[in-house]
Amino acid sequence: MKALKIFFASVMLVAIAATSCDYKYITPDTGEPVDPEEPISFTQQVEPIWTSQSCTNCHNGSGLFSLQQGEAYQSLVGNGLLDFENADNSKIVTVPGSGGLHTDYTYVSNQKLIITTWIEQGAEDN
Ligand code: HEC
Repeated sequence: MKALKIFFASVMLVAIAATSCDYKYITPDTGEPVDPEEPISFTQQVEPIWTSQSCTNCHNGSGLFSLQQGEAYQSLVGNGLLDFENADNSKIVTVPGSGGLHTDYTYVSNQKLIITTWIEQGAEDN
């Protein structure tokens, strides 16, 4: 009976150890590296992110500011969504995935890095 208990205890320990170990090897997908020296194109690299992440479902100019191609730049500037002192603190960076309506609408891979790098480069309408 005692041997059986020890056996089950060991099985549990091994199971716990095995599952907890799994997490160690999950590294976040940061996508392609972003070279801060390489100018980022707003129209080619930044703007398409909001369409691909379905932000434009709601942010299409009917009620809410638009993040659609050709209109997004004006919205970012007009609504103060960029923080030039601290790009990571920009609303366009912090709001997605922050909860409420934005819980399921967020950035993946290196999208956030593309946006912050673009802001650090001066947020040009290029
Ligand atoms: C389901 C509809 C919906 C979707 C999809 C959505 N938003 Fe919003 N968003 C809102 C609403 C409503 C507001 C205004 C109220 C608020 O601030 O929550 C808002 C506000 C914002 C603000 C401004 C907050 C402020 O304080 O000025 C930002 C920035 C923003 N959204 C970015 C995004 C981005 C980027 C995406 C895509 C990743 C996105 N949203 C997807 C509904 C949505």
